[in-house]
Amino acid sequence: MSIHISVDMSTKKKLIWCISILSVFLLWYAVFGGKSDTEQYAAMKQSMVEYESLLRETREQILDRLKMCQRECQRWDPDLPVIYTITPTYARPVQKAELTRLSQTLMHISNLHWIVIEDSPKPTPLVENLLARTNLNYTHLIAQTPSNYRRKGSPRGVEQRNAALRWLRKNKTMNDKGVVYFADDDNSYSVQVFDEMRFTKEVSVWPVGLVGGLMVEKPILDPITGKVAGWNAAWRPDRPFPIDMAGFAISLSQILKKSTAYFSYTCYGGWQESHILQQLTTKDHLEPKADNCTQILVWHTRTEAPKLSEENKLAARGIHSNVGVEV
Ligand SMILES: *[C@@H]1O[C@H](CO)[C@@H](O)[C@H](O)[C@H]1NC(C)=O
Repeated sequence: MSIHISVDMSTKKKLIWCISILSVFLLWYAVFGGKSDTEQYAAMKQSMVEYESLLRETREQILDRLKMCQRECQRWDPDLPVIYTITPTYARPVQKAELTRLSQTLMHISNLHWIVIEDSPKPTPLVENLLARTNLNYTHLIAQTPSNYRRKGSPRGVEQRNAALRWLRKNKTMNDKGVVYFADDDNSYSVQVFDEMRFTKEVSVWPVGLVGGLMVEKPILDPITGKVAGWNAAWRPDRPFPIDMAGFAISLSQILKKSTAYFSYTCYGGWQESHILQQLTTKDHLEPKADNCTQILVWHTRTEAPKLSEENKLAARGIHSNVGVEV
């Protein structure tokens, strides 16, 4: 059995009118209900003032950024290869300190494009703001490490570096001259290392300080040919390329040519470098830099995790020292 309700046109119209008026009234009540006229006025005025200051701030930010861009463009040399610096990053107490330090090193380098990839489901305001305040050319990407690879012992940065490689292959062509460098946010870089890598033909290499359990890990050159003959590595010297991520750069053309070369979860930490380099080059093609690999221009420094015992005690009581401030 079915009930059929028929309504004539005028009843329908009346019904729609009633519902509309009722919803407007409900909305009005929800927003202003219970408040007096003066309170309403004060609230509206307050929100207008806030909105006005927000607009002013945004405008100032845009103008600042524009000024910086103009300054940067003046320094941009279209004939100089671009250094695509790839930095994976993730949220932790020292993140802003590390990124500030690195960004201010990179600000000394001309024709540099910083690709920052966050291990996060969405871009964070901390990284967004930091990038907006630099005068760098940058691309902000996100790539979250899948949960099954987030446990201790899994290689780090795989998802993020691969996202950057994909971005380069999608957005650059063989007409673009450049070099690709994987610069983690915790290392220390001399501005000179960027000059060394800029004209890399295929893959260039140089020593890295304070890594692999040694003062320096470096390529050993053949004194006659000047080519890479071997390595001084002590930790797993059987790796095909026993070298740190900070110790090599790859030409953009090589990245584009070898378009299937990626980092992989199937090899552990310390083997990522060998994995990617094996797909891109051979030992006899390596170009030694930094005065025949005698200069140390990058150090694999590690920032000590800060002691936050007092903060943790406060947090247990629901108190935080950094309410409303970005640290
Ligand atoms: C590097 O080594 C090669 C060959 O061993 C030599 O010809 C060249 O002068 C060296 N360059 C520097 C900067 O020491």
